[in-house]
Amino acid sequence: MSLRLEVFDDQEWAARVTDRWAEFLRNAPASRMCLPTGETPVPVFAEAAQRIDFSAATVFMLDEFELPFGHLARCDSMLRRDFLDHLAALPAAIHVLNPAAPDPAAECRRYESIVEVGGLDLTLLGLGGNGHLGLNEPGSTADAPTRVVRLAPSTIEAAARYGPDAEPETGLTLGIRPILASREIWLLVTGAHKAEILARMLNGPIGPDLPASYLRAHPNTVVFADRAAAGSLASRSA
Ligand code: PGA
Repeated sequence: MSLRLEVFDDQEWAARVTDRWAEFLRNAPASRMCLPTGETPVPVFAEAAQRIDFSAATVFMLDEFELPFGHLARCDSMLRRDFLDHLAALPAAIHVLNPAAPDPAAECRRYESIVEVGGLDLTLLGLGGNGHLGLNEPGSTADAPTRVVRLAPSTIEAAARYGPDAEPETGLTLGIRPILASREIWLLVTGAHKAEILARMLNGPIGPDLPASYLRAHPNTVVFADRAAAGSLASRSA
C-alpha cells in the first residue's frame, strides 16, 4: 500500500498541483488521463490551461449526470467551461460517457472497454462530501464496474448548485475497479468543509461506506490537500 498525503498552503495549492501535472506531462506527453469536474479542480484547470500543453494527451471524463445535453450542471459542460475552452490546443482525444445512449448499460461497457485498451496513466479525482469517487456512492464495492448509478441525496443537492433545475437522479460513472487500475491517482481535496471526510477516508476502515477509502489499497495514490482540508493531519507516506 502506498498513499501519500501532500499538503500545500491554500493560496499555493493550485500552483503546486499544476507544477506536478506539468512535470507528469513533460515526462509522458501522450498520457491517458481521467479528469473529474466539480469545484475542486477549477483553480488547477485554470492554471494548467495557461501553463501545460495537453495536445498529445487523451482525456477520459470521470462521470456524467443524466441531464439533457448542454445543461450547465452536466460534467461535459463543466469540463468545457472550466478547462477545454481555455486551452491553446485541445487534447488529442476526449472520451465522454453519453447518458442519452439508447442502452446506457451498454454505453458503460463500451466506455470501460476503451479505458481498458491501454489503461489510464493518471486519474484525477475530487472527494465527495459523502466520500464518493466520481459517482461511486457509498455502498460501492472495490470491484464496481463502470455503470449507471442512482445518486445519493447529497450528490443531487451538490448538482443543484449549478441551477435550480439541476436535479439529476441518476448518472454514469467510471467504476471503482477501473479507477483503481489507473497507474497513478491524485485525489484533490480543498476547503475546511472537506476536513472531516478526508480524515475519515485516511484513518477509518477501508470499505464501501466510504468509497474513497479504497484508494489506500492502491499502489500509487497521492492526496493533494490544502491546509484547510488537511486540518490537523500531518503529511504522510503510508
Ligand atoms: P466538488 O465535488 O469538487 O464540487 O467538491 C467533489 C465530488 O463530489 O466528487
